[in-house]
Amino acid sequence: MTQAFKAMRWLAPAVPAPKTAHGAKPPGPPQLTGAKNLLRVVKDPVVYLTELHERYGDVAYLRFGRQQVYLVSDPDLIREVLVAKSKSFTKGKALQSAKRLLGEGLLTSEGELHDRQRRIMQPHFHHQRIKGYSEVMVDYARRARDSWKPGQEVDIAAEMMQLTLRITGKTLFDVDIVDEDPELGAALAGSLDVFNELALPVSGILDKLPLPRKKRFQEAKERLDQRIFSMMEERRKDPEGHHDMLTMLVTAEDEQGTGGMSPERIRDEAVTIFLAGHETTAQALTWTFYLLSQNPDAEHQLRQELHEVLGGRLPALEDVPKLRFTRWCMQEAMRIYPPAWVLGRIAIEPVELGGWKIPKGAILLLSQVVMHRDPRYWPGPMNYLPERWAKEDPERPRYAYFPFGGGPRVCIGEPFAWMEGTLVIATLMQTWSPALVPGHKVALQPTLTLKPKHGMRMTLRSAA
Ligand code: HEM
Repeated sequence: MTQAFKAMRWLAPAVPAPKTAHGAKPPGPPQLTGAKNLLRVVKDPVVYLTELHERYGDVAYLRFGRQQVYLVSDPDLIREVLVAKSKSFTKGKALQSAKRLLGEGLLTSEGELHDRQRRIMQPHFHHQRIKGYSEVMVDYARRARDSWKPGQEVDIAAEMMQLTLRITGKTLFDVDIVDEDPELGAALAGSLDVFNELALPVSGILDKLPLPRKKRFQEAKERLDQRIFSMMEERRKDPEGHHDMLTMLVTAEDEQGTGGMSPERIRDEAVTIFLAGHETTAQALTWTFYLLSQNPDAEHQLRQELHEVLGGRLPALEDVPKLRFTRWCMQEAMRIYPPAWVLGRIAIEPVELGGWKIPKGAILLLSQVVMHRDPRYWPGPMNYLPERWAKEDPERPRYAYFPFGGGPRVCIGEPFAWMEGTLVIATLMQTWSPALVPGHKVALQPTLTLKPKHGMRMTLRSAA
């Protein structure tokens, strides 16, 4: 019995209601109560959401106790939530609780505070401004590439976390957080370690417990804050000394003449960029290598492109636009395994959506993993076909694919992520052809990002 079918057994029949009826709700399963039911959802949320959509349609309704939840799986309605009606929503609960670490950074702040921070930072994330980081990306990818040995077995998930951590550390703080400043690395990793758990929906409960983990988190956070404040001070005194994002944050000013950012906001933005930027990119790369190992045709085409464009040399910034298939490999991996797999929004006022009246306080879930595997928009949704991206499909709605979100809260690091992903894949795949270790179990662990539950054990073979 497939996993999906197993999940279907406990979904009750649809409860259709006419949209126009007073107080009518979209179809959905009966109220979810009790720890047992909640556990089922928490245990396999990807299967759960997929089945909800398949069974109840583009707007599915469910209740967890008193909390009303709507799963929205129509690209045009997703656009409405993220773009046209974005002002009627705030971020979901998981991100709100992430404020413990991220403070009022871009990812977690709301309203005018968010708009101002975004205005100040946006120009510095454009393609032109991030070009300088390409060398760091290639350099660290090359070091990883050269450290590997033929026949070696590695956990590619852990390797990619380490690689993106180093790239983020260098571009953000101009330090090598493994070789030069392991203390900073440990403080960052320590915060990140517990971050996922603290950001889970049940974290409200976890938070009240005197867990040693919580204490460790507090200590790591304090160490991290101290370090960031002292690095900020250095950049204030000598803005020419480092070409990193921290200098950008310290010196950036609002175009509307309201000045720069306070030290607390700079700290929040630095930690936000660090966290938002490194794990997501690591997941995108990990799934790309896994899918390439399972699809020799795609790997062959990739290798051909690398040979034609690079002819054995390391990639550079100018190559990025030419490495089209390389980019599609990552684009297609993020379709099947989107690192950000669900976005949550809370209605701050009653909203009309697709003919339904969404009450204030309701949670909306917009799931990339559901939309990106919807056979209406993606024929053979689980087939890894990077060449799908060769041509724009005019029939496909824009929000059938939204790995970086959309609207005013769209990922500010998107150009950075494409550049990093393309350069890292090109550097590593020129030399290596990772093969999944036979018997390694590939399962999903959907926390804040979509991780492989047991890592990704791969054997490094030399590329032919
Ligand atoms: C493959 C890699 C990445 C993926 C899949 C990704 C995905 C996302 C998504 C889906 C959002 C929107 C969240 C929401 O609307 O609730 C977001 C926001 C954000 N991302 Fe990324 N991201 C990636 C890489 C990066 C990088 C490299 C950086 C920084 C260098 C970054 C920084 C941010 C920030 C600061 C926000 C908040 C933007 C705002 O609300 O104004 N991300 N990301």
